Amino acid sequence: MNNNVQGETRQSLHGNWSSRLAFILAVTGSAVGLGNIWKFPYMAGQNGGGAFVIVYLMFVFLIGMPVMMSEILIGRRGRRNPIATMKLLGEEEGNSDIWKWIGVMGVSAGVLILSYYSVIAGWTITYIPKAFLGEFVGTDATSISKLFDNFVANPVSVILAHTIFMAINFFIIASGVKGLEKAVRFLMPGLLLLLFILFLYSLTSGSFMDGVRFMFTPNFSALNWDGVLTAMGLACFTLSIGMGAIMAYGAYLPQETSITNATVSVVIADTSIAMLAGLVIFPLVFANGLNPGEGPDLVFKTLPLVFGQMQAGTFLATIFFVLLSFAALTSALGLMEPAVAWMVESTDYTRKQCAGIIASIIWFLGLGTALSFNTMADFKFINGTIYENVDFLTSNIMLPLGAVFTTFFAAWIMSKNSTSEELGGHSVTYRIWRFLAKYFSPIAILIIFLQAIGWI
Ligand code: PFF
Repeated sequence: MNNNVQGETRQSLHGNWSSRLAFILAVTGSAVGLGNIWKFPYMAGQNGGGAFVIVYLMFVFLIGMPVMMSEILIGRRGRRNPIATMKLLGEEEGNSDIWKWIGVMGVSAGVLILSYYSVIAGWTITYIPKAFLGEFVGTDATSISKLFDNFVANPVSVILAHTIFMAINFFIIASGVKGLEKAVRFLMPGLLLLLFILFLYSLTSGSFMDGVRFMFTPNFSALNWDGVLTAMGLACFTLSIGMGAIMAYGAYLPQETSITNATVSVVIADTSIAMLAGLVIFPLVFANGLNPGEGPDLVFKTLPLVFGQMQAGTFLATIFFVLLSFAALTSALGLMEPAVAWMVESTDYTRKQCAGIIASIIWFLGLGTALSFNTMADFKFINGTIYENVDFLTSNIMLPLGAVFTTFFAAWIMSKNSTSEELGGHSVTYRIWRFLAKYFSPIAILIIFLQAIGWI
């Protein structure tokens, strides 16, 4: 069978990105989300700063890049949704359709992640009017905590916010690749601009160098083995790898675009935004004598307090939560696209109908997370609340497994011909990719996975 001809002549049903930039913006939009702006700073804070940041950066480059390149090349080769692509390439390259299960797991992971991601994104949206109406002005730590706890304790408002977020998602996804493009073209530059304004503010906060020192002075005694594994998991999560989102986007990538260059741009953009978020948050935390190890509440409890004490705090807090909502929205689009693409290709329903059905399922599943913080907070099994179980299942099991199998497939099952054709010949970068994808990435990720499930 001549794979080369097949790979080049296949066309995606959903159309292509109009340019390399559009693809980079869409993938960057998927990568940059709550993971960078909310999770990265609080995890860096909890794990002592510098050493964690350095280990995280190492994993982003050594694991994240080869896995992302593998996902894009598989997606573009198959030009279908992740399930159909894995089935097709599995049959072509490995003589077995068992590989389609990687796609099934990825699409399911996207649906499950979005079910809780949407609830947290809903909190973010709710904080926009709170910020705008000056609810943080002149408050103290206790009242800021109460504000958050009271909001989360009310199932109606949490569900309403989750509903609004899913509705926005639905409208954008329903309009197809062109709609996605339009959305990210507007959202991504807006996000960067907003972050930059906050960065300029933080530069003048008086504690900027304290923040820089905290983030970049490695103190390895503050980092234990668990912290190293957390950094590795965060690197996968923040780059959106291991669940087919990047594979689905790769299916719309024009044949002449360089996968290596696109990956480098996305990884640099994602990492810079995480660093920028840290450089905004930590100086503000130090300027106000707060604790960087505050935990997941950092954004929702600590920052409003800081904003409430600043001049122009109402304006900046509004900008910040608009920014976080944008970031969450562009990630959510990446989480939902694989399932919608699969349904459009496998049924006779229109894209709009498929988007509606998938969004409704995700909305329904999200009720479990929405209620985990109030009415059903005491309903616990295995790892805790419904939310904690969904998070554990997806982040600690499905994503690492997805990343290992995808990379394994690209490096071990696909022929050298196919991969070198997608990655542009036997260049030095191709050889580096092959080495990392064959040995380093699968083994390293397998270690996190085995640790996460408690086998080592
Ligand atoms: N990368 C996103 C973030 O950092 O918030 C989360 C995410 C999006 C994970 C898409 C996985 C995914 F497929």
